Amino acid sequence: MEKKPVSLTKLEKQFIKTVWDFYHLNGRHDLPWRKTKDPYKIVVSELMLQQTQVARVLPKYKEFLKKFPTVSSLAPAPLGEVLKAWQGLGYNRRAKFLWQAAKAVVNEHKGKWPNTYTQLQTLPGIGSYTAGAVMNFAYNSPVALIETNVRTVHIHHFFKDAENISDKELLPIIERTLDETNPREWNWALMDYGSHLKTTVGNASKKSKAYKKQSNFKESNRYIRGAILRALTQQPYTEAALCSHFHDIENERIKLQLDALKNDGLVVKQKYKFLLPTK
Ligand code: ADE
Repeated sequence: MEKKPVSLTKLEKQFIKTVWDFYHLNGRHDLPWRKTKDPYKIVVSELMLQQTQVARVLPKYKEFLKKFPTVSSLAPAPLGEVLKAWQGLGYNRRAKFLWQAAKAVVNEHKGKWPNTYTQLQTLPGIGSYTAGAVMNFAYNSPVALIETNVRTVHIHHFFKDAENISDKELLPIIERTLDETNPREWNWALMDYGSHLKTTVGNASKKSKAYKKQSNFKESNRYIRGAILRALTQQPYTEAALCSHFHDIENERIKLQLDALKNDGLVVKQKYKFLLPTK
């Protein structure tokens, strides 16, 4: 499909220059996932980076790839081993999605990652954002990418006085200003500039409809699930043993989260003990 060249407004041209100037001077050029075009490594990094800060991802990304360097090494591994390598990142369902996607690539695509936006989204856990990230970062193919830093940048520049801005409103301007010849670096530049704006002028993405306030992690069910999984990486536990291990957490909450983990297939029960999946 041939695209008509867009004629940009003066404001849009200024915007593009601001983003590129920032990136050339201050971009995070050393991030390891920016030095590869391997779709597998891009997917690993993007799933890790969803809801987790770059500084926390850096060591885990390296460790994970040491243990599972290729899609064909990840696919046959027991899920429990993948969850162990994921420890410290949280949102453990992402690890299961990654593992399921690897299985699908190996079993249904002969080990080769799909190279279209639509096909990528047929893989487990790969939604529009991650598929778009692979299109841009692995294949240098221009697909509008919407995530928190990109929202911050566009809202800051084009929706200064608006509130409650939807992704649908942002999309046309993201598409108009997308660099068709170098989408890979353009999206890195947007992310870096957005992350910089958050630490300087504040988080404009709070005005996005998609913005979710982070709740207190220590009191969350997510915290309990993470703590249970961490304990199970060491040894199997009965429900009672887990309850006494976490004596400062109410038993009822532990039981509920243990159930949730079991339903998600992140823990299994054998006899009376809970453990990480061995298959
Ligand atoms: N570079 C590529 N993807 C990124 C992301 N999600 N966050 C920060 N830097 C990135």
